[in-house]
Amino acid sequence: MKIFLLLVVGFFSLFATDMQYNKGEMLYFSKSCNSCHGPSAEGGSGTPRLSHKKQNYLKSRLYYFRKGKVSSQQQEVMVQFTLKLSDAEIEALSYFLSYHKKSDTQGVSSELLGGFGS
Ligand code: HEC
Repeated sequence: MKIFLLLVVGFFSLFATDMQYNKGEMLYFSKSCNSCHGPSAEGGSGTPRLSHKKQNYLKSRLYYFRKGKVSSQQQEVMVQFTLKLSDAEIEALSYFLSYHKKSDTQGVSSELLGGFGS
């Protein structure tokens, strides 16, 4: 009976983290993060790579930006992109970025990809 319960709990937690990942992925594209950080969060000219960084690190960066705390002029742009993010959205975004799988843009409309294509 205990094993059965463990399996059920395990199944639902897998499901929950999967939902978190998908939510983060949708946010990443719908909030235009991809236009600067790249479709695979690999970073680009003047923007850092975000994929596979520690979730707690990304989360704290986003909280700081949302509070308007920046340490360089380049970072100021991030304030406007984080101002309207809720705690839950920051959680999902940082989860998605930290556990980023190889660019999976299937199912994301080309409109959201902003010309980067799949
Ligand atoms: C207009 C371009 C632009 C957009 C859009 C943008 N960013 Fe950024 N982002 C930057 C720049 C520039 C930096 C800071 C570079 C530096 O520190 O010199 C940055 C830094 C970050 C960092 C800190 C990374 C680190 O290693 O310290 C995170 C996390 C981040 N962005 C997440 C996001 C998320 C999530 C979104 C979408 C909600 C987003 N960014 C949208 C340009 C952008």
